[in-house]
Amino acid sequence: MTPEEQASKIEEIIAAYPANRRYALAVLQDVQHAFNYIPQPAFKALAARLGCPESQLYSMATFYKALSLTPKGEHIIKICNGTACHLRGSMSLATQLKNELGIDPGQTTEDGKFSVEFVNCLGSCALAPVMVVDGNYHNKLRVEQVKKIVALYADGERSGND
Ligand code: FES
Repeated sequence: MTPEEQASKIEEIIAAYPANRRYALAVLQDVQHAFNYIPQPAFKALAARLGCPESQLYSMATFYKALSLTPKGEHIIKICNGTACHLRGSMSLATQLKNELGIDPGQTTEDGKFSVEFVNCLGSCALAPVMVVDGNYHNKLRVEQVKKIVALYADGERSGND
């Protein structure tokens, strides 16, 4: 996507909401959804539209975990590291993912295909350990299954829409 296309998409998202600060979070969420992160020009454009300092929007973006200031991978892998999942091997899943992708939680692969992150309890403790890829839950996951799951997404056989 060119910078012009990016700017145009950002303007489109901002224009869909009234110029009121109460919609700032909704706009940022839509921008996050469109780009998988919040590009810097979005802060500038939104601040201009709302007549507020960019720093206020940055604070909002750093506060909410669902918003990211850095580009994320095409596929987002979330490893639950809540108590039940931790006790049932979430760290082993992270180690296996590092073997497969070469990244630790909090990082994105160089080719931009995958991001891995730890998250808090996903509310499925009885099915621990849980890993979520693009919104798809992989429950009672065993380390031996990780390689196959990564391969499915890498090959494009699965996406967040299936
Ligand atoms: S601790 Fe992982 S789902 Fe609750």
